[in-house]
Amino acid sequence: MLSHSDRLAAHVARLGEEHPPIPMESVDFTVHDPEGFGARFGHVLDYMARVELEVDRNVLEITTMLPDPPEIDQLFYAEVWQPQEVQHGLILDRLQQVVGRPPATTDLEHVGLKLKVLGLLAHLEPFQDVCRMLYYLTGMATERSAVIAYNLMHDGVVESGEKAVAETVIAPIKRQEPGHYAFYQLSARSHWATLAGWQRWLVRRMRSISFAPVGVNNPTQLADFGDVMETLGVHHQGRDLAADVARVEQELLWARSRGLAVPDYVARAFRDAVEAAEARAAA
Ligand SMILES: [Fe+2]
Ligand SMILES: [Fe+2]
Repeated sequence: MLSHSDRLAAHVARLGEEHPPIPMESVDFTVHDPEGFGARFGHVLDYMARVELEVDRNVLEITTMLPDPPEIDQLFYAEVWQPQEVQHGLILDRLQQVVGRPPATTDLEHVGLKLKVLGLLAHLEPFQDVCRMLYYLTGMATERSAVIAYNLMHDGVVESGEKAVAETVIAPIKRQEPGHYAFYQLSARSHWATLAGWQRWLVRRMRSISFAPVGVNNPTQLADFGDVMETLGVHHQGRDLAADVARVEQELLWARSRGLAVPDYVARAFRDAVEAAEARAAA
């Protein structure tokens, strides 16, 4: 049987081989109804383009928080993940400009004070292990959100009749996200198994106070995220985004201690986004 590190290494190698960054030349930016398409999906494109492009800052955050990362992690984020995500961002950003919108406003280099403090503490190895777990959990929630969002976006774009966008933008991007999710899930599961009781306690505490939906760093972005949820219809047909995004996190961190289906900080964060969007629309 393959060891965990062999499986992970094989996974990363396969992602690199099978999923090169999507070439810009492969994209057909034909949009038949730019106005209608922009009105319906423009803000979703903008949100996703920003989050994808901000992978550059995410990598800075990771290297701040984890001064001494495992080799396989470095290989994943430098050679596979970052190049793929940047290309997703560039393509989505170009598409939103094709339909007459301004390019995304991104923050590519500002690493928050909290992460810098974590990075200092992480020079102590047992603490770095806590930070690594937080990084994997964030990665899992982020990539799971991306998988769901691109699936819904694909359905919506197909329905809108913009075939070129569905087939040459959303479909190729959506095919690359499950591999990212798998990397973080494999890593989170095996790393959690190595943590001591006090480390697990700290992970639960820190996660409870720091969780945010993907791409949310301030109140405006929280409302933006609520609007994206609404447009993509994440709550339609009995779907529970919070439960889906946090399924493995719930299982690993909380299964023993609580009977809830979803960690309350995750459910609350998504609820806050919907409320922030509604309040902004009403104002
Ligand atoms: Fe992506
Ligand atoms: Fe991704």
